[in-house]
Amino acid sequence: MENGDSNEDYDSSLPVEKWCGDEQLYQWKGFWFRLQYLLGTRQVLDKFKPLPSDVILASFPKTGTTWLKALLYSIINRSSGACLRSNHPHMLVPTLEVQLYGAQQQSFSTFDSTSSSSRILATHLPHQLLADAVKPADCRMVYVTRNPKDTLTSFWQFVLKSRSYEEPWPLEMAVEKFCNGVVPFGPYYDHVLGYWKESLERPEKVFFITYEELKDDTKTHIRRLAEFLGCPFNGDGGEEEILDEIVISCSFEKLSSHEVNRSIEHSPWMRLPMSSFFRKGEVGDHRNYLNNEMVERIDTITVQKFHESGLMYGVN
Ligand code: A3P
Repeated sequence: MENGDSNEDYDSSLPVEKWCGDEQLYQWKGFWFRLQYLLGTRQVLDKFKPLPSDVILASFPKTGTTWLKALLYSIINRSSGACLRSNHPHMLVPTLEVQLYGAQQQSFSTFDSTSSSSRILATHLPHQLLADAVKPADCRMVYVTRNPKDTLTSFWQFVLKSRSYEEPWPLEMAVEKFCNGVVPFGPYYDHVLGYWKESLERPEKVFFITYEELKDDTKTHIRRLAEFLGCPFNGDGGEEEILDEIVISCSFEKLSSHEVNRSIEHSPWMRLPMSSFFRKGEVGDHRNYLNNEMVERIDTITVQKFHESGLMYGVN
């Protein structure tokens, strides 16, 4: 447990599994949580009252959350990047269970009640848990996902680089945990399927996009996102220029070059270096780490979970 985590409110009957180092995960309503985020999650579900104009960015960790935070902020505010130069994307778009309702609550100037633009809020909560809380507001949601092997690789690297544990955390163990669903906010597959099914039922309210699609043609998907959000780019010269600037200002290369995002100072909300959210930003990096046996094992699960549900995604 990290400093500041609390055992208060913790229901000792919850299933517990070792995750990495001395950290445990707690299973609640079918999903696994680090204790501090379980407490934040319960607060969100008890207290969060979204507005119809809110935009909620949902994601499983390490699937492109930081990128989407920058993109959504830029699209909605028609910002050409000035704000991103001095603010970490996580400071512009807070995560509900971490920054707004978590142990280290922060106030956000971007939530000025006089502002006319939508609030953009992020969450790693699965749709299965969040659905009842967002239903009354019927607000828009954007869900980003990423292929499971790259997600796992990014997660493993993130944990290795951002925390120091006495025990090593070998890749074999990370794969084992991921395949068993024992990973914060996991199982990954249930998380993705929850939002995917919702996006099929309510495409006007839930926008489902993959990291790989965005990488492949960022501009087209920014245009689609803007349409979904009700603020389309109207095609005149000025708007077109802003669109091009957003592609560049939110690119991995640009964002990761800003001092605020390179800083090794700890973020106030997660006690991790601000730089932890930027590593390589590539598609297919798992090929540099996972062996054939690991790839086969994950692909088999992906076929069972995704393909057999009709989501033809995640094996390549
Ligand atoms: P890698 O570890 O593969 O490099 P999240 O924001 O959900 O925590 O996801 C982090 C992953 O997104 C990391 O992947 C990180 O490098 C990558 N990332 C961060 N900013 C990005 C950007 N602007 N464009 C593409 N990928 C980005």
